[in-house]
Amino acid sequence: MKRIAVLTSGGDSPGMNAGLRAVVRTAIYNGLEVFGVKRGYQGMIDDKIIPMDARSVSGIINRGGTILHSARCKAFREPEGRAQAAENLRKHGIEGVVVIGGDGSYHGAQALFEEHQIAVIGMPGTIDNDIGGTEYTIGFDTAMNTAMEAIDRIRDTAASHDRIFFVEVMGRTSGYIAVIAGIAGGAEEILVPERKTDLPALIESLREAREKGKSSMIVVVAEGDDAGHAIDIAAKLEELSEFRGAKVTVLGHLQRGGSPTAFDRVLASRMGVAAVEGLIQGHSGKMVGITNQHMMLRPLSEAWECPQHFDFNLLRVARVLSV
Ligand code: F6P
Repeated sequence: MKRIAVLTSGGDSPGMNAGLRAVVRTAIYNGLEVFGVKRGYQGMIDDKIIPMDARSVSGIINRGGTILHSARCKAFREPEGRAQAAENLRKHGIEGVVVIGGDGSYHGAQALFEEHQIAVIGMPGTIDNDIGGTEYTIGFDTAMNTAMEAIDRIRDTAASHDRIFFVEVMGRTSGYIAVIAGIAGGAEEILVPERKTDLPALIESLREAREKGKSSMIVVVAEGDDAGHAIDIAAKLEELSEFRGAKVTVLGHLQRGGSPTAFDRVLASRMGVAAVEGLIQGHSGKMVGITNQHMMLRPLSEAWECPQHFDFNLLRVARVLSV
């Protein structure tokens, strides 16, 4: 293998730049030429493929987002789109690709490998931490710290005014950010998509908390909770109980930006080295994952076939500590 390419795909996550830097520099260290694909798979189809060198990734290890830009590309889901992309890669003499993104991006990578024999290795980049085959995804640590800091600030004002706050965090199908930021921020209640929300039980629990002397309370809500968004749940509380004037804060894309934590920078750096070394050793159709502090290469399909199991014990920890 002489030439490889790297791209970021799907929702951006803090640490993607550190991952890009690691892929580019590991390739150069090993005597490979390396190209960057702009705007994810869309750039592969549109031939937005640019040469990169060690200096083109200088000064980005501490930057959020992705210097290559990212996209969710519908055209790549079709065989015609992938054929066009493979033709462009061949034109540049590119034999291997590192894809930094979530499991949706891995489906595309798998198809590119199976249909066009382009070697592919995935690196898990998403704030949701919902990819099988790895204990951590790049960006999760930063996002949960951002959410925790926001909860800390909200707690100050909640306590000063004896208020109930609903804080909505990201996670359309995953409650990981909610439960970790909730425990770290000392939330009274945490609502996640993995568990059905029982509104009468929530109201009862808030009442008990008030009776025990809590004058302010924080409820963390993952955006994909089955009872609705935080704003809907706050409205229901008003309708069904004596609680009035609960406030709602939606953290939204605040959680996707910002300088990555040391954990995410190091995770992305290690994964980038492992991904390129994997390609050099002849691996393909695999993803890099971290298990017990070790970098492992696993089939890409593990990302969607063996999804991360939500740890319900964390909800129990939060319940015990909110006494
Ligand atoms: O997958 C990462 C994520 O941030 C989810 O938590 C969230 O639901 C989604 O992306 C939002 O995507 P978009 O930026 O396209 O609205």
